[in-house]
Amino acid sequence: MALLEVRLYGDPTLRRKAEHVREVTPEIRRAIGDMVETMYSQAGIGLAAPQVGFPYCLLVMDDGKGGARALINPIITSRSGSVVDEEGCLSLPGIFGDVERSKSVTVQATDEDGLPFNLDATGMQARVIQHEMDHLEGVLFIDHFSPVARDRIKKRIQKHGFPKERRSRAFAL
Ligand code: NI
Repeated sequence: MALLEVRLYGDPTLRRKAEHVREVTPEIRRAIGDMVETMYSQAGIGLAAPQVGFPYCLLVMDDGKGGARALINPIITSRSGSVVDEEGCLSLPGIFGDVERSKSVTVQATDEDGLPFNLDATGMQARVIQHEMDHLEGVLFIDHFSPVARDRIKKRIQKHGFPKERRSRAFAL
């Protein structure tokens, strides 16, 4: 396995729409292993393939039980509730902000053995799935902010780069 370079805000790869995975090949499985290793090396709990330059509909996430799970071609089939909480992103280090997400989602996806499954997720897990699925559409969490707030962040990054401080409460996706 290998650590992959996480693309940072400004990299055009982050704005491209990911491609449907037609077959779970050995290359895809290797990409999943590398993505999981990369996610944990950066203390992340979720990572989408476009963030490491793979243009595929694929994400990995911590399962909250000491393991990681891959979701290939995920589709949200139902959602309910809404909750606002703070998010961060491995592609925007040091930037955090509140995002409204569905409280619970049911997602349909393919696993790394090529088998379909359904996952009911709530709370943090539901948030991770929605954040990573945004990446598959070329959407970043700051796109959910007001135009004024987003502009402030863009200007700050252009002028000073990414902030160095890390906050303990927030998590990176
Ligand atoms: Ni992210």
